[in-house]
Amino acid sequence: MRVTQAEFIISAVGPDQYPADGLPEIALAGRSNVGKSSLINKMIQRKNLARTSSQPGKTQTLNYYRINGELYFVDLPGYGYAKVSKSQREQWGKFIESYLLKRELLRALLLLIDIRHPPTRDDVAMYDWLSHYGIPVCIVATKADKVPRGKWQKHVKVIRETLFVRGGDPIVVFSSETGQGKDELWSLILERAGK
Ligand code: GTP
Ligand code: MG
Repeated sequence: MRVTQAEFIISAVGPDQYPADGLPEIALAGRSNVGKSSLINKMIQRKNLARTSSQPGKTQTLNYYRINGELYFVDLPGYGYAKVSKSQREQWGKFIESYLLKRELLRALLLLIDIRHPPTRDDVAMYDWLSHYGIPVCIVATKADKVPRGKWQKHVKVIRETLFVRGGDPIVVFSSETGQGKDELWSLILERAGK
């Protein structure tokens, strides 16, 4: 995919702010700091359009990026950040849940997992919830540059087994540093977006 146009559209805090042009949406979820914003930047070949966080857990909005006037990336707030209060966490849950359940334009969710570590309880809960509601998931094992290539499959196996990955859900090994997995992920995204 050759990205010729990528623009930040809005940090939405509610449904009335979601774009109204009917383009398909690909959302990104995962623990705070897992590399969601970095992945967006790598996919669109821009250094810093999606803001990478110096303050993990702070972003509580849905950040919309329009790509080539064809689809949106929706950067969701990271979960599992210890310093976020319980009430903030509950608020996060409700906001994201209603987006994921009600947004008809949502075509797939990229669930990011750090390849170095087994998925956490939060990751497992998120994946179970998405599967339960039949939301199409693509798992992305991030920060692959931090693990020797020869060990990738071993780490992917741990992810697959810890999450009990359902048959059809792909796992893409990805690095925002090297661009590993970028083409494969674009193909999956375009297929999901019906492009
Ligand atoms: P929140 O917005 O807080 O939820 O975090 P995020 O998931 O958007 O993570 P972000 O993209 O801000 O990245 C967090 C940190 O990990 C940054 O310091 C990035 O430079 C680093 N990082 C992200 N992806 C990679 C990667 O593929 N390889 C390496 N080595 N570092 C990465
Ligand atoms: Mg981010």
